[in-house]
Amino acid sequence: MGTAYYAQRDPLKWIAQWAEELGGIYTISSPLGTAVVVARPEWARQVMVERYSRYQEKSRSYAVLRLLMGNGLVTSSGEFWRGQRKMTQPAFHRKRLEGIFSMMVSRSIAAVEKLARDAGDLQGTELSIPLSTLTLDIISRAMFSTDVEGTAAEVGKYIAMLNEDALRMLRHPWRFFLPRKFPTPFNAREFAAREALYGIVDGIITERRKAPDGHDDLLAMFLSACDEETGRGMTDEQLRDEVMTMFVAGHETTANAMCWLLHLVASHPEVEAGLWAEIDSAEAAASLSAGNITGLPYTRQVVEESLRLFPTIWSVGRRAGEDDEIGGYQIPAGTNVMIPIFHFHWSPEYWDEPMKFDPGRFAPDRRPPNEPMIYFPFGAGARGCIGNQFAIQELVIMTAIFHRHLKFRPVPGFEVVPDPLITLRPKNGMRLRVMMR
Ligand code: HEM
Repeated sequence: MGTAYYAQRDPLKWIAQWAEELGGIYTISSPLGTAVVVARPEWARQVMVERYSRYQEKSRSYAVLRLLMGNGLVTSSGEFWRGQRKMTQPAFHRKRLEGIFSMMVSRSIAAVEKLARDAGDLQGTELSIPLSTLTLDIISRAMFSTDVEGTAAEVGKYIAMLNEDALRMLRHPWRFFLPRKFPTPFNAREFAAREALYGIVDGIITERRKAPDGHDDLLAMFLSACDEETGRGMTDEQLRDEVMTMFVAGHETTANAMCWLLHLVASHPEVEAGLWAEIDSAEAAASLSAGNITGLPYTRQVVEESLRLFPTIWSVGRRAGEDDEIGGYQIPAGTNVMIPIFHFHWSPEYWDEPMKFDPGRFAPDRRPPNEPMIYFPFGAGARGCIGNQFAIQELVIMTAIFHRHLKFRPVPGFEVVPDPLITLRPKNGMRLRVMMR
């Protein structure tokens, strides 16, 4: 299996260790192929920003995401991607985020009310599922307004099934070589989940095409978007792939980020005290009711520092479309390139006490500069996250509302283990004691 054996077993350890030992660029090889790991800021910038046009394709590892997202923004490339990005971008405009602010607040309050029912349980409460339900609820409402209540739960069930299947494929990569149409129980289950999910999404799209007026949501924006040059809008298939992409890219990332944040704050009383001081203030209350997060600067720092320690997209990959050279090494066309985001966030070369949870690092006078590129939880360059501001707003609101009403404490003996698969998620879920403040 070559070096990939280790990279697969404990990627966070080995990928970072080899980056230190081998000067920031090296090849991981396995029977399934090779990838060049690029782990210095100037080279990562070269791939993602400066010479991004040479690295338009995503790497082979994104094949598994295609199962979930089809040919949507995350997985597509070239002119097709450019056209789709132009058409979807306006849906994430600042004004539109303000429009869904109060929905994010009210859904977070509803989630807190549910959690409060279990408050005081000494065994702790498993939080990854309720957080995933909350973020799926938020993205569904942002996507389809409130006219599809109940759909979120069903969509969530099928997405969770497909996600599990995708994870199984990643754990057993030989599955990539089996024909997808082969009637194994695995393929049959995946096929049924996908058909059911597509049925729901296609049904909504058909209804909305028939009666497009009176909606103010992401789907309305996608339906009305058209290509500037051709004047054409998205086909039903394109729409479905983009809707699926937003569902998948927009909920698990944020749910996992929130799991890690709650875990970090629960074990850092000084950060919790700082959060309470801000959240209980009149400025915070005014900010939450005015529909912006400007009155919650410390809360935002806590979010940013959590994303540094636990970047839920822990690495990104590209494929060289033409020959290139990185740091004096030849990168022939077709090479898979991997950029391990977590390594930049954790390296002692760039951060003092890198593994310490210190939201003060993101205070205005201490924030990391753009150059060197050492902090990029949302990626960088043209393929950077389209939902970046959506996610920050959502995480700040959830953090403020959760800590305004509840406090969280570690459960003695419960082991928190990061599991880097598609996203960096807690392997055993996240169990914390929940108490009323
Ligand atoms: C904490 C939450 C999130 C994190 C850490 C995150 C991270 C990322 C990263 C690193 C990328 C770049 C992937 C690459 O270079 O291959 C990306 C792309 C993307 N993200 Fe996010 N994301 C988050 C939330 C969201 C949300 C809420 C949405 C949608 C509502 C979203 C939609 C997307 C899309 C569509 C892309 C592909 C953009 C393109 O290639 O044009 N993400 N995200």
